[in-house]
Amino acid sequence: MITKIHQMNTLARLFLVLVTATFFACSEEEMPSPTPIPDVTPPDPMEEPGLPPLKDEASFLVGMTVATDKLDNPRNVEIMRRDFSSLTGEWQMKMNIMYPSQGTYNFGPADEIVDFAEANNINMHGHALIWHSSTPSWVENFAGSDQEFEDMIKDYITTVVTRYKGRVASWDVVNEALSDDPGHPLRETVFSRRLGPDYVRKCHQWARDADPDVILFYNDYNIAGIQSKRQAAFDLVDDLGDLVDGLGAQMHVRVDWPSRSSIQEFVDGTVARGLKVHLSELDVRTNIEDDASLSQLSDAKAEEQKNKYKEIVEVFNAIPEENQYALTVWGLRDNESWLLDFWGVPEWPLLYNEDYDYKPAYEGFLEGLQ
Ligand code: XIL
Repeated sequence: MITKIHQMNTLARLFLVLVTATFFACSEEEMPSPTPIPDVTPPDPMEEPGLPPLKDEASFLVGMTVATDKLDNPRNVEIMRRDFSSLTGEWQMKMNIMYPSQGTYNFGPADEIVDFAEANNINMHGHALIWHSSTPSWVENFAGSDQEFEDMIKDYITTVVTRYKGRVASWDVVNEALSDDPGHPLRETVFSRRLGPDYVRKCHQWARDADPDVILFYNDYNIAGIQSKRQAAFDLVDDLGDLVDGLGAQMHVRVDWPSRSSIQEFVDGTVARGLKVHLSELDVRTNIEDDASLSQLSDAKAEEQKNKYKEIVEVFNAIPEENQYALTVWGLRDNESWLLDFWGVPEWPLLYNEDYDYKPAYEGFLEGLQ
């Protein structure tokens, strides 16, 4: 028995010696170098270009407009969380959506955005309580007296502002109340007709009464670009006095317009009045006038666009902190821009292309913060 074990041990030892010898022979001459363990983590598409998130680089609120359907798209959501610190509903908080018929409110889409902003610690800007272009037809054709109309609008503003009290940081109260005719600065709308020429003041008062802490803006287009309209906006806020906290300039601009100096004039006049500045609704057109035949964004136009983004961010970045509200971009990807329908020509006005790639415009934004 002992011999048997001894024999087995001898055989086992021989086997071991052979295996070890083979191993060392192979390890020195034939064994391939160890295969590296593959990195099984899928690349994060957001990290590929290696550009930092806008909101991390900026010392002010960087805003994005959002349509509710975009909250169903995980990629959009990821970028909104990553780059932006403020949100504006693209249409969800307009009267034609929130108040489809008298006494019946539709807060669903607005709630979804406000919930999203809150869950992600993002500032929420309300846009817009009154806007002639988003007025439901039952309001346009209101059958009651002027007093009943006024009671109805007061009730609407009070209801909406109260509902979002403490959750919506700021409101555009009346959007685009000014006309483009310097001779007749107040645009004629159902509101000016039925509430009277001081209706902007009335609306601000109702909003203020509903939430004394909410920041109230007057918001309009071309007030950075056209001197007479800018002056009309300044006159309007001067008249509103304490009932307004800030001035929003819709930045639907072009690569060649408005000039840096006129944007600066808007900023300076707003700051001099002690108001907050919102450069709202930023998009930069490239396919303009005689050039509107572009079928794709050329490198040269992309560069011009980058420079315009940079210029606008530089101007905003230099505003004293207490006067900075937000710089809001009006859409995420080029193919989602409202301008496509509005102008009916190809356009690439935003920071991301359809494939979610950063455009030079994004780099321009970052450079403007330097
Ligand atoms: C546009 C939205 O982008 C569209 O989705 C909507 O259908 C119409 O309104 N000035 C404004 C914004 O104040 O509310 C507008 O937004 C663009 C012009």
